[in-house]
Amino acid sequence: MKVKVKDNCFMKTDFETLKELHQHYAVHNKCKLKESATQPVYEIDPPSSGILFIGEAPGRNEDLQGRPFVGAAGKFLDELLQIIGLTREEVYVTNIVKYKPPNNRDPSDEEKKACRVWLNSELLFVNPKVIVTLGRHALARFVPSTNISTEHGQSFTHSTGISVFAMYHPAAALYNPNLKDTMKEDFLKLKEFLKTVDKKIKKDKEKKEEINEILKM
Ligand code: URA
Repeated sequence: MKVKVKDNCFMKTDFETLKELHQHYAVHNKCKLKESATQPVYEIDPPSSGILFIGEAPGRNEDLQGRPFVGAAGKFLDELLQIIGLTREEVYVTNIVKYKPPNNRDPSDEEKKACRVWLNSELLFVNPKVIVTLGRHALARFVPSTNISTEHGQSFTHSTGISVFAMYHPAAALYNPNLKDTMKEDFLKLKEFLKTVDKKIKKDKEKKEEINEILKM
């Protein structure tokens, strides 16, 4: 099934697996970065935790391996996840653009737009309980006109109802080691936030069950 979305784009919605989804968009996307990149970068396993992290764009290691956050920034991300009792296998990690930009420059607006349907399709498939944005590009996708340096460590509710948690990009802490402690503190805040999300999900489920029981009377 195809759904018409913004800018005359179509989004296919009936994928059986994430692998199938990525293979579809690897062919059906107009991102110019694919001309210079080795391959698209993506994960194929849905997250058991329901948590989805979004970075900016693949770097050199990711471009070579076809998997997100496998370089130095990825190692630091693993460390941060460990602090809150999570592993990489339990979360889903993706990027705003799926191909490495040349010389690790920022992705352009045009490149981000070209990968937008791909990311939206991933979000629809994974249906995360929380989206954690890594860095300003990912934050701007969900919470426009915000500044990562003032909004990091905070949660937002997107107009779709999805919870978004703003985090610095792990690579930023590699360039500026002062940010390492800030990121560790923000991950602890994320851990607390996840508890409130879980409580709300539990409450909503109970309410739904209660309504179903009443409707049976
Ligand atoms: N930085 C990103 O934003 N994404 C990756 O996959 C790796 C580094």
